[in-house]
Amino acid sequence: MTKKIFVTGSVMPEVEQRLRAGYDVTFHGSDIPPSADELISAAQGMDGLVVYPNTPMNAEVIARLPDSVRIIACHAVGVDNVDLDAAQAKGVTVTNTPEVLDAATAEVAILLMLGAARRASEGERLIRRGDWKSWRVDFMVGTEITGRRLGIIGMGNIGRLVARRARAFDMEVHYFNRRPLPADKAEGAIYHETLDSLLGVSDVLSLNCPLTAETRHLLNRERIAKLPKGAIVVNTARGPVIDDDALIEALKSGHVAAAGLDVFEGEPKLNPAYLGLENTFLLPHIGSATVKTRTAMGLRVLENLDAFFAGQEPPHRMA
Ligand code: GLV
Repeated sequence: MTKKIFVTGSVMPEVEQRLRAGYDVTFHGSDIPPSADELISAAQGMDGLVVYPNTPMNAEVIARLPDSVRIIACHAVGVDNVDLDAAQAKGVTVTNTPEVLDAATAEVAILLMLGAARRASEGERLIRRGDWKSWRVDFMVGTEITGRRLGIIGMGNIGRLVARRARAFDMEVHYFNRRPLPADKAEGAIYHETLDSLLGVSDVLSLNCPLTAETRHLLNRERIAKLPKGAIVVNTARGPVIDDDALIEALKSGHVAAAGLDVFEGEPKLNPAYLGLENTFLLPHIGSATVKTRTAMGLRVLENLDAFFAGQEPPHRMA
């Protein structure tokens, strides 16, 4: 029998075509994710769900899912929105879409570094307001990332690609990770055994770790104080890795010169103080947002569903 799938968001056209060809698919039909009640009601009789980072699949929601739902296929690499233990306990498989979004996300990390360091948003806003009146030697002067020390927290697939691209800017790459990488993967990046040690050398700090209980508000007031004065902070991971109040305070004092942020705690409702600061370069969670990457992510969702319903091990199982 054709398996029934409920998709809590949308997929790229090629993916939709393939999904419809193989499954009996229902789309939520709104960009606003379903409430828990809507989700539970839509899940009745479904064999699987396709969910996005903005669909909270906490223990309570998972416990209320009908027994027909055997798989939650995340259209994302980050699965912090899903309570993996609860899924496992209920015997529900969870999959994600790793690797295919690494390059697109690393591009955005570099974009954030450049945008924050070179005051790109501020300059753009100034031009659009009609406030570009003259030239002076210190007009819009920023900092360069070239030759600076880059600290990467989380040297997984994305972190390593950020490192590679940063080397094109002659950056000296340092990293903190659960464990050091083998030399062929580290490609010369310098491992720090402690986070504090990494922070101390991070002229530019890039967050590339998953959001977990350990990394929630990892970049707090105390740790920000360990960054060199005038550091630049960029985040393409998940908003809650940063304690917003602490970063905002450091952006106001100048201890952090600028921040480039693609993800926010509580997004799309971000802390409004970010909007009032000139030294923030803000993007609306577009790390993986290219046609190529979003299509590849959707195809990866399909690979997982196809394998699972064929009785095979899905290639990207998280629980
Ligand atoms: C996007 O944020 C993802 O985790 O894929």
